[in-house]
Amino acid sequence: MTDKTSAPLDEGWSGERCPGSAFARRSLLHGAAAGVAAVAGGTALGGGAALADTEAHPEQPPKSRTIPFHGYHQAGIATPPQRVLIYLSLDVTASDREELTDLFRTLTSRARFLTAGGRPPKAAPTAPPTDSGILGPTVQPDGLTMTVGVGASLFDDRFGLGSRKPVQLVPMTAFRHDDLDPALSQGDLLVMLCADQRDTTVHALIDILTHTKSAAKLRWRIDGQRNPERPDGTRRDWFGFKDGIANPSTTDPAQMNQWVWVQPKSSEPAWAAGGTYHVVRIVHFHIEAWQKVPVAQQERIIGRRKASGAPMYAVGENTPDQLDPIYTNDPQGLITPLNSHIRLANPQTPQTFTTSTILRRSYDYDRSPNSQKLDMGHAFTCFQRELGTYITMQQRLENEALVPYITPRGGGYFFALPGVRDDKDYFARGLLS
Ligand code: HEM
Repeated sequence: MTDKTSAPLDEGWSGERCPGSAFARRSLLHGAAAGVAAVAGGTALGGGAALADTEAHPEQPPKSRTIPFHGYHQAGIATPPQRVLIYLSLDVTASDREELTDLFRTLTSRARFLTAGGRPPKAAPTAPPTDSGILGPTVQPDGLTMTVGVGASLFDDRFGLGSRKPVQLVPMTAFRHDDLDPALSQGDLLVMLCADQRDTTVHALIDILTHTKSAAKLRWRIDGQRNPERPDGTRRDWFGFKDGIANPSTTDPAQMNQWVWVQPKSSEPAWAAGGTYHVVRIVHFHIEAWQKVPVAQQERIIGRRKASGAPMYAVGENTPDQLDPIYTNDPQGLITPLNSHIRLANPQTPQTFTTSTILRRSYDYDRSPNSQKLDMGHAFTCFQRELGTYITMQQRLENEALVPYITPRGGGYFFALPGVRDDKDYFARGLLS
């Protein structure tokens, strides 16, 4: 493992910065016509300098933004979901607690650098490069978050951590309709990389694998994206439904403390405060079968209108999706069927109150090997203060009308660690010390 420090953001690849390069690039961008006119007229391209920079470089990527890495909680949970995701499940090969601590320190320093951006250190002329170069000479943060979690297997007898395990953390076992692939399930560690652009997540993936290869190996990986909001409001999943409407408010600390963050002085070990249980379920969608279902029936299966995302009592296409479904006047499920997805996920009864709120932050995946065979679905993601909330909810969903159209194939249960507080802190410090 290497643990390199990084240079500030505003420098280029060492030794490769050419003062003339900006001019050369601009003249290329302006295209043949502009170039010919300039040369024929004997004028310099200096007139272009009057253009706003974005006009002069129309293909420039959008401005990169930074999501702070340090904090009481990890970023990537309450953070509004970025466009792209990579999940990386790792098995730890470190041979003792010291090497495991080194691994967490390395993950911390890589996350600190990648999420802030900067210039990778210069390699000796005969040494391999210190960075893949995918993001150019200066790494842009690009809204990257890196969220790290631990699986139940990390608490086996390898590192002597058994007594410190979060009390509800267990390996994921199959629900009634699951068809779990072991090669796509579980893991000692889970790294969730989210960013505004795909090259940024891929760059981070390669960086993490390179820097951790002596202490961890890749177990499984899945890439996802968030489809755009169409026409507005909430994004749509591959079934064409607006997905992610009913969620606790991530900007309301009271709701987040009630439903998502593990609290100090709870039944959990003290080190776990500020963390949360992280569930990933890789759920295959049977798109071809779904395509044959009339829209009115699809709506009864989900429990919301397809076009608007509104509750079933709404009829207009423009009814806002933020309206709450109401079941008190519909005990028999004539409007919202009793076995519809949302009614089983959250039946709105006093008995189910404590097991009906999770923070969903899912992504859509497409792993189709070719156009004849679709392998598309949901990298279903949720965070909750108690793993039992998710498990109870999923057991209710074993009876849902959506069952024939989806097959869960992988994922796992993890505990997303508390945040890294400052420059001196590192992932899992409380767990390991
Ligand atoms: C993988 C296939 C799934 C699909 C296609 C799906 C789709 C949807 C859709 C379209 C909605 C309605 C809009 C919204 O409120 O976001 C919804 C709501 C919801 N889903 Fe899912 N979902 C899936 C899996 C799950 C799983 C595995 C869980 C948890 C065990 C879950 C829990 C919920 C909850 C809690 C709601 C909000 C219910 C409410 O309060 O009204 N979903 N889902």
